[in-house]
Amino acid sequence: MFLRSLRTALQARHKRAMFRLMQDARSFLRLHFLDAAVQTGLAAALVEPATREELAARLGAARLELLGALLDLGLALGELGLEHGRYRARGRALRAVQAEDGDGLAAMVEAYVTYYNSVYVTLPERLAGGPRADYLDWIGPVVARASRLIEPYVAGMLLAEARNRDRLRMLDVGCGSGTYLRLVAEANPAAEGVGLEIDPAVAEQARGNLADWDLGGRFQVVEGDLRTPNPALEGGFDFVLFANLAYYFPPEEREAVYRRLAGLLAEGGGLALVCTFAGHGRDLLSANLDVATCSMQGCWPIPDLAETQDRLARAGLPRQRVERLMPGSTYYGILARRE
Ligand SMILES: C[S@@+](CC[C@H](N)C(=O)[O-])C[C@H]1O[C@@H](n2cnc3c(N)ncnc32)[C@H](O)[C@@H]1O
Repeated sequence: MFLRSLRTALQARHKRAMFRLMQDARSFLRLHFLDAAVQTGLAAALVEPATREELAARLGAARLELLGALLDLGLALGELGLEHGRYRARGRALRAVQAEDGDGLAAMVEAYVTYYNSVYVTLPERLAGGPRADYLDWIGPVVARASRLIEPYVAGMLLAEARNRDRLRMLDVGCGSGTYLRLVAEANPAAEGVGLEIDPAVAEQARGNLADWDLGGRFQVVEGDLRTPNPALEGGFDFVLFANLAYYFPPEEREAVYRRLAGLLAEGGGLALVCTFAGHGRDLLSANLDVATCSMQGCWPIPDLAETQDRLARAGLPRQRVERLMPGSTYYGILARRE
């Protein structure tokens, strides 16, 4: 029996491709299991081992057989263990999203399962000229949470800019969760300034976070569009951060946007433009982000590094230093200083 099924497997057409795809499907299913575990409350409920019935009660699950199927999936992936009828979190990934600092990973998983998945499912219509989807209507809070994973890679560049200054008025454009304002505030007690955010739900999140971090008095979160005049942006900033944002502007507008940023700098002030740049087929995550940004209403192709440098120079910021922020990727920071 075993030999017959083994022979069948070995004779299958495209067996190498099949083997490869089955491995990929495992990763795909892990992402889906983790997202379902977070969204249903299973991940939180499994901080202590529990039987299926106890879990059903904790989750308020009405469908025991469906919960059983989800638990079986977790067991098959090695994310769950089962001893004496009690399930427990076993795998690295499930334990990570359960952890107090695991929200960024949970948000990353949610991003893949929801909008990154959707951009491919709906790609054929869009490629034929169909409209871009209105993802930005709802993905802002997920993006802001997932963006926190990148924070350590940006930190070095920010801290070098923030430390050892008697005065630091900072503007964080598209401030997301507000995490970079916090980083700078911790590095320099004199730092104060503004977080600008166009998405009201995200601005609310940033306000809440800054209040929780006791920084509400030092940083104001202003809801608005960078391109629109705003009294809160006047007076000159010593440091302007423009992180993970360039693809929210159409390529033909980018030079004007950089000119606007240059105009917000105080004399001697610095602009940090941080972004995933086009990988031209050599960076998987950059390519995936590009498919997503080309599919969304309100987003455009991710920029090219050399072209961005040229645009910054033409916008009045020719003094630049480029730093690769993440090994093996096209995630770079450009620090441009006003003459
Ligand atoms: C990908 S998120 C990055 C958030 C944060 N900078 C970070 O790196 O974690 C981009 C953010 O910029 C905001 N945004 C987009 N266009 C904007 C604009 N024209 N003015 C202000 N904020 C904008 C979006 O709402 C979103 O929260």
